[in-house]
Amino acid sequence: MKQFSKACERNTEPIAEVLAELLPAADGGLVVEVGSGTGQHAVAFARRFPHLLWQPTNRPGRLASIEAWRRDAGLENLLTPLPFDLFDDDPPVEHAELVMAINVIHIAPFEATDKLFEHAAQLLSVGSPILLYGPYRYRDRSLEPSNERFDAFLKKRDPESGLRLFEDVDAIASNHGFKHVQTRRLPANNDAHWWMR
Ligand SMILES: C[S@@+](CC[C@H](N)C(=O)[O-])C[C@H]1O[C@@H](n2cnc3c(N)ncnc32)[C@H](O)[C@@H]1O
Repeated sequence: MKQFSKACERNTEPIAEVLAELLPAADGGLVVEVGSGTGQHAVAFARRFPHLLWQPTNRPGRLASIEAWRRDAGLENLLTPLPFDLFDDDPPVEHAELVMAINVIHIAPFEATDKLFEHAAQLLSVGSPILLYGPYRYRDRSLEPSNERFDAFLKKRDPESGLRLFEDVDAIASNHGFKHVQTRRLPANNDAHWWMR
């Protein structure tokens, strides 16, 4: 039941380098991943950062691959995946040191981004980051041709999906009390952005 994503394999190392800057040094904190997909990231990051607990999540019915990767990896710090849809009323746990969503907000409907920051505000203490990774539009520059094609593909498949305007995402974050900290340009026209309260 293990699914495999080539994109996931490619972006793991660049995202891990960002995580290395953001994760707490202290042992035992919990990292919550939203929309964990195949489960490859959860395994890779739990292995790379063994001092933290990793909590993968995904929409109900989409947990089998994550669980299969988790079982094969046999990592003590990788927790059983939990069902969690961004439109749920509450987050799946009470507290996290970091919340991350990799390639999620352009797949889920736009309103899910608001819910994501609402949940993050509930989960994170002041000074703890939410990290988003993926392709974005920006008000002051045209979309790269590869992202233009990707956006068209997404919208044809599901009119509610599509690349988000960074400034819209930042305004939502701000409504929930989060301040944008940094952008990191990563390979294949993807960006990592993080916010904190
Ligand atoms: C393109 S995949 C990315 C998966 C994984 N994060 C990765 O980078 O390989 C999009 C993910 O977003 C999840 N997703 C979509 N809508 C969601 C929602 N409303 N709530 C939670 N997750 C959602 C999907 O189930 C899927 O796991």
